[in-house]
Amino acid sequence: MNDEPSILPPLVVQAQKAAANAGFAMSCTNRTGALLRTLAASKPGGRILELGTGAGVGAAWLLSGMTTNSQLVTIETDRAVADLARGVIGPDPRLTLSITDADSWLDDYTGSGFDMVFVDCRAGKFRRRDDLLEYLLPGGIYIGDDLLPQPTWPVGQQTRVGRFLAEIPTQSGLRVALLNWDSGLVIGTRTGQR
Ligand SMILES: C[S@@+](CC[C@H](N)C(=O)[O-])C[C@H]1O[C@@H](n2cnc3c(N)ncnc32)[C@H](O)[C@@H]1O
Repeated sequence: MNDEPSILPPLVVQAQKAAANAGFAMSCTNRTGALLRTLAASKPGGRILELGTGAGVGAAWLLSGMTTNSQLVTIETDRAVADLARGVIGPDPRLTLSITDADSWLDDYTGSGFDMVFVDCRAGKFRRRDDLLEYLLPGGIYIGDDLLPQPTWPVGQQTRVGRFLAEIPTQSGLRVALLNWDSGLVIGTRTGQR
């Protein structure tokens, strides 16, 4: 089985080109992107959150799976990187791109809950998971990638990931599966009870 997606959504190709031109190398892979698209499609009319927009590649995959009445809120702390993403996915009316720190966003958010979260920075993944899960609705999906060792990992990342992998199977309010696949994924479903 070749699990590389054979056709890429045009928006994803645009975001990948913008990322490559800017030398941004932290975008999700095509295989993970295809999974994000599939999961986004399972939430018609859903509200989806991404922490860590990057150049917008993951967001482009999510948008390509979302129905027209779904919404994507994506958070990026780095203005230059966010501007890259905005240049590609910005015109989509389903998108809200906030240039802010995810920790501050978690502190301040008072809006409606989400049906899916893609955690792609440290906040919500390696720290403050309980805070994030307050905003994930029962039945909502929690997904994160980059859990298998990578040569580009900064100092301390192996320790953070090791702690995460030890803790996440018993995370209160989540039923979790770990996938030793692609960059290493976690997928969880929010339970109704903590
Ligand atoms: C792995 S990249 C995101 C890739 C993107 N989600 C994708 O799939 O294409 C992680 C991003 O998180 C951003 N980031 C790091 N710390 C953050 C924080 N505290 N709040 C918001 N964004 C953060 C980084 O600037 C970087 O662009």
